[in-house]
Amino acid sequence: MAQHDTGAAGDAEQAVVKDGSVERAGSTGQGSGVVAHSSSRAVSPGTAVEVSDAFVNPGLPPHRERITDRDPKKDKEAERRVYTLFYASIIGSVLAIAAYAAFPLDPSDIQTVRLNTAFLGLGIALGLLGIGIGAVYWAKNLMRGDELVEMRHVTRGTDETRAKAVEVFKQGNEESGFGRRALIRNSLIGALIATPIPAILLFRDLGPTTDPVQALEETMWGEGTVLTRDPTGTPILASEVTLGSVFHVIPEGLNDVEDRLEQKAKAAVLLMRLKPEDLNELPERADWSYDGIVAYSKICTHVGCPVALYEQQTHHLLCPCHQSTFDVTNHCEVIFGPAKRPLPQLPITVNADGYLVSQRGFDEPVGPSFWERS
Ligand code: FES
Repeated sequence: MAQHDTGAAGDAEQAVVKDGSVERAGSTGQGSGVVAHSSSRAVSPGTAVEVSDAFVNPGLPPHRERITDRDPKKDKEAERRVYTLFYASIIGSVLAIAAYAAFPLDPSDIQTVRLNTAFLGLGIALGLLGIGIGAVYWAKNLMRGDELVEMRHVTRGTDETRAKAVEVFKQGNEESGFGRRALIRNSLIGALIATPIPAILLFRDLGPTTDPVQALEETMWGEGTVLTRDPTGTPILASEVTLGSVFHVIPEGLNDVEDRLEQKAKAAVLLMRLKPEDLNELPERADWSYDGIVAYSKICTHVGCPVALYEQQTHHLLCPCHQSTFDVTNHCEVIFGPAKRPLPQLPITVNADGYLVSQRGFDEPVGPSFWERS
């Protein structure tokens, strides 16, 4: 059986059992209190080493006064630093707001995005760091630094406890100087109010800036706009659109506008020719097609993917994202999938030169129908 030599506290030695005799393996020094076992019997990795003694409570180190406790001048200096940091925080937040206004985002100019991000980030960083460093500096140098021990007690909210809590709160207020040091208190309150403001500006950017219905209704299509091929921008003669073919179409001039991608995301159109007798047109849309040629928005009414697949035998348009399927013969009504409304139709005709043109813009918003739910 293994033998232990636990020794007195702080005087433990390693005892090793060998052939029934005990050998001293040397002192482990004060406080280590660890005994190693070695025996041919009853030794397992879990019991080979055990702590011989619990730690003695070392108690609290003696309280050391800080320089701000001894020297009122240093105390004032520290106070100045704290409220300077809180004011710096306010300046940082104001800078962030100013940067937001001074460097408006222009998606076509990456430089504006860089400047906006850099200065907004610097302002917010200064705002947060000013509060954080100021609060830590305040706690370390000006609030009372005594170490306190409080024994655990039952956590019941008795009247006595509440009275004690009020007393502790008042004491905390007294010791931190929150009520007394008006400049620190006011600058901290100012910094806490100013810091979240840049975040409000950023969250505001996530919302729509204009009425979504109006934004999705207004596209580059208007009266007489020439239908052109995507991406070359060459006009399309009605005679070039053969039965079973499909054209990916953009409005004339789209390649020249600054916000080309944004405009294309709303104005892209699919053009197909069917036999006129295959088209089941609504009476009010009888003149929206030209000799069996129809044009529909390419933007899926589910969540806005481009509807790019045309099945010429069935005259179905398929959205590859979630498989919404639209029937071209029946004014692009939804016959399968999560989309909730037909693709908007673009009324078309031909101009004097035989090129296909739009009669006017879309009569309804293109793309996702989320606005219908609001
Ligand atoms: Fe077309 Fe979902 S975006 S089906």
